[in-house]
Amino acid sequence: MTSFIAGLPKAELHVHIEGTFEPELMFAMAARNGIELPYDSIDALKAAYNFSDLQDFLNLYYQGMTVLQNEQDFHDLTWAYLERARADNVRHAEIFFDPQGHTQRGVAFETVLDGIWRALEAGEHRLGITGKLIMCFLRDLPEADAERTLDMALAHKRRIEGVGLDSAEVGHPPSKFARVFARARDAGLRCVGHAGEEGPAEYVREALDILRVARIDHGNRALDDKTLVARLARERVPLTVCPLSNLRLCVVETATAHPLKTMLDKGLMVTVNSDDPAYFGGYVNANYDAMQTALNLSREDLVTLARNSFEASFLSRAEKDAHLAAIEAYAGAP
Ligand code: HPA
Ligand code: ZN
Repeated sequence: MTSFIAGLPKAELHVHIEGTFEPELMFAMAARNGIELPYDSIDALKAAYNFSDLQDFLNLYYQGMTVLQNEQDFHDLTWAYLERARADNVRHAEIFFDPQGHTQRGVAFETVLDGIWRALEAGEHRLGITGKLIMCFLRDLPEADAERTLDMALAHKRRIEGVGLDSAEVGHPPSKFARVFARARDAGLRCVGHAGEEGPAEYVREALDILRVARIDHGNRALDDKTLVARLARERVPLTVCPLSNLRLCVVETATAHPLKTMLDKGLMVTVNSDDPAYFGGYVNANYDAMQTALNLSREDLVTLARNSFEASFLSRAEKDAHLAAIEAYAGAP
């Protein structure tokens, strides 16, 4: 099954580029930028990757990104992810970035965007991976900060596919960002949002009704609400599920307790993704593998997950069909 998963063409729809910052690259970049990390070695840093919840992880995630200073840094980070994704047979990636994590510490929005974008263009030409960018608002900051960030993004609309919502969830409901999402939508940007990772099912409902998101990122807690599950299935709202993230952030207790198979059985449009792979112990294939082993997923389940990853993407109908045909060619006729 591991080799079947490895060869399966797939899209990744939930990956934070700052969460792909491998300790080795982080240390090398810190040295070249003259930045001191509060760890003596790569191993000491890795030993700190033992999280009790989302906030515990976010503290290290924001610390790690302070190493990113120049356009080249953002390029190198993104390029490293794309090469790693190519090895997992990722054909298309919709990548989150957190501009406020950078502009807050004096790095220009354009430095971030230019570096990431240059790597995405090279990824398409040299690796055959297409990419789209989704700019996330940090939900623990005021909506006014998100509004200013949207203003910056609107000057670069060609390179930004959509907006998302991430960071500390509980106490920061989607409704807090109603106005900025409405403005993004009016400007033609797609909308997605993290909801139901640590927050309640009600946040998933708000993301749908108030932010009018096209996908829910995570969505685990939606399972607490039967009516909501029925709606998600009926409306075929994609959920970008991140199994290893859920394990490492204690959203689920064990791999065998993960609700992915339950979600599939309830007819939900689920996809499997890596979230912050450098912090959570594996890229997208490792997430598929962990779930296949723990939940005894069939080849049919795995093909459904891969098909869903393209169906739930923001590619055109023709592009989706080309990828679905590649899955069929690989896995046999549907
Ligand atoms: N949840 C919320 N915010 C995040 C995450 C996550 O898993 N990763 C990076 N920012
Ligand atoms: Zn995430």
